[in-house]
Amino acid sequence: MKKIFAANWKLNKSPLEATKFIQDFMKLAANGVFNQSDVLIFPSAFSMDAVSKACAGTKIQFGPQNIFSEKSGAFTGENSAEVAVQLGAQFFLVGHSERRQLFSEVDALLNQKVKLLQSLKVIPVFCIGETLDQRDAELTETVCFSQIEKGLAGIDTTQRLIVAYEPVWAIGTGKVATRDQVAEIHQKIFDKLTSMGFQNFQLLYGGSVKPENAKELLQVPHVHGFLIGGASLDPNTFYKICQS
Ligand code: 13P
Repeated sequence: MKKIFAANWKLNKSPLEATKFIQDFMKLAANGVFNQSDVLIFPSAFSMDAVSKACAGTKIQFGPQNIFSEKSGAFTGENSAEVAVQLGAQFFLVGHSERRQLFSEVDALLNQKVKLLQSLKVIPVFCIGETLDQRDAELTETVCFSQIEKGLAGIDTTQRLIVAYEPVWAIGTGKVATRDQVAEIHQKIFDKLTSMGFQNFQLLYGGSVKPENAKELLQVPHVHGFLIGGASLDPNTFYKICQS
């Protein structure tokens, strides 16, 4: 099974910068990184058309960081999953902790988004993870399981799904979950999804992934790849992670 390396650029990179990144990455990738890795890019909405064009003819796949729960209609300011599919998007972030925390996205809305993506036959990358307070209160499992149960309620368990575990306290902080912490929760998430009947899923870890810690984390059971923020903004650094 190929490992997945997903770049979440957040609110960074203009269309020109995005195009340049992909050109630079493809020069590095001439050495064959795609044989063992699936490389995904999540640009901001205005740069997705440029990413779509720059990725044409490459093996890089891409998708939006967020979509609305309806395909079209009177929803000023929102973005359509259907249009993203027309641009070639195959993978869609849903429920990133920044969406949950800064934009008040709740489980029921995220569940609608996942269902819409399944109806379009594309792959949700469903994000979960606990805050520091929740971890300190030993609520990590409770929080993650609740996000899974509510966000993935009633969805088709045979369609491909990616779940990204990103402890909120490790995002952009330089604090990485330890090997043991990742191993424990990934095993639990794996068992939980299996017990819910999911047959075709991969688990990503995210939170301060860097070239220096990627190799070790990738050896943890049930870590099938990474969702990478800060370290995905530079093609050389991102490429180093993809090589691990
Ligand atoms: P960092 O890699 O910058 O910690 O961000 C992680 C993240 O939020 C990816 O979605």
